[in-house]
Amino acid sequence: MTMLAGKKALVFGVLNEYSIGWHISEALHKQGCELAFSHLPGDKIERRVVKAVEPFNPTFLAPCDVSKDEDIARTFETVGQKFGTFDILIHSLAFAPAEALHNPFLQTSREAWRTALDISAYSLVALARAALPMMNADGSIVTLSYLGAEKFIPMYNVMAVAKAALECSVRYLAAELGRDEKHIRVNAISAGAIKTMAARGIGDIDKMMAHYTEKSPLPWNGDTAASHVGRTALYLCSSLASGVTGETIYVDGGYNIVGW
Ligand SMILES: NC(=O)c1ccc[n+]([C@@H]2O[C@H](COP(=O)([O-])OP(=O)(O)OC[C@H]3O[C@@H](n4cnc5c(N)ncnc54)[C@H](O)[C@@H]3O)[C@@H](O)[C@H]2O)c1
Repeated sequence: MTMLAGKKALVFGVLNEYSIGWHISEALHKQGCELAFSHLPGDKIERRVVKAVEPFNPTFLAPCDVSKDEDIARTFETVGQKFGTFDILIHSLAFAPAEALHNPFLQTSREAWRTALDISAYSLVALARAALPMMNADGSIVTLSYLGAEKFIPMYNVMAVAKAALECSVRYLAAELGRDEKHIRVNAISAGAIKTMAARGIGDIDKMMAHYTEKSPLPWNGDTAASHVGRTALYLCSSLASGVTGETIYVDGGYNIVGW
């Protein structure tokens, strides 16, 4: 099938084959989308990412620490040179200092707050701004959120605040970019628990997965969870979602509707 034949996507946030961004890339690649990747700078990370994305035959890889304006500018120079224009921007990254996740929320430092919101939420705005001149009409931007944005989840702490800011930014970006002549759509997927490197940093991910498996209306397990997210991202990036923008769509097996 080739739902995305002739389309080009730039994916931020693949670290390894467990990354949610990897599963989104797999879903896009299967539908004929051309892919390029951006990852945190560093030789070790780069080797890991190169290996992970090899099956997707990437057009290029560009190192970028999204907390640095000069990295974002350099990355989009590369995008202009290698892609010219493109259609899909995937923002699948987040970071908060470990102590802000492990200490009580009350102890959140100003610096941890700043870092978490900068990398996990402001980066979507910065990347969308840099991407817009190179994006084709009817393009799509997709980011990843979590239930912690609206409900208390143990240890999610400042990351919950960052996700709330991210979901709000999705609405504001969607309102502005939808009215722009290119009509770019901006949506978030609020994913259920998935065993990735980032999730390991938050807490006991095995316990969390077991909780989801027990409580979710639909089966939710490590074998299939990330591919569900990949397929919804595919939908949001395709013309099937041509009338959908500013939404946060839950892909969590229905976990968020359960009240006990
Ligand atoms: N795993 C889950 O249970 C889950 C659930 C809901 C939402 N999410 C969200 O999904 C997204 C992807 O996370 P994941 O679970 O695939 O984990 P992951 O560890 O595979 O990916 C996180 C990525 O963020 C990147 N990153 C961190 N700081 C960065 C920076 N300054 N500049 C550039 N990149 C940076 C990392 O290099 C990594 O590639 C995140 O937004 C996360 O909050 C995850």
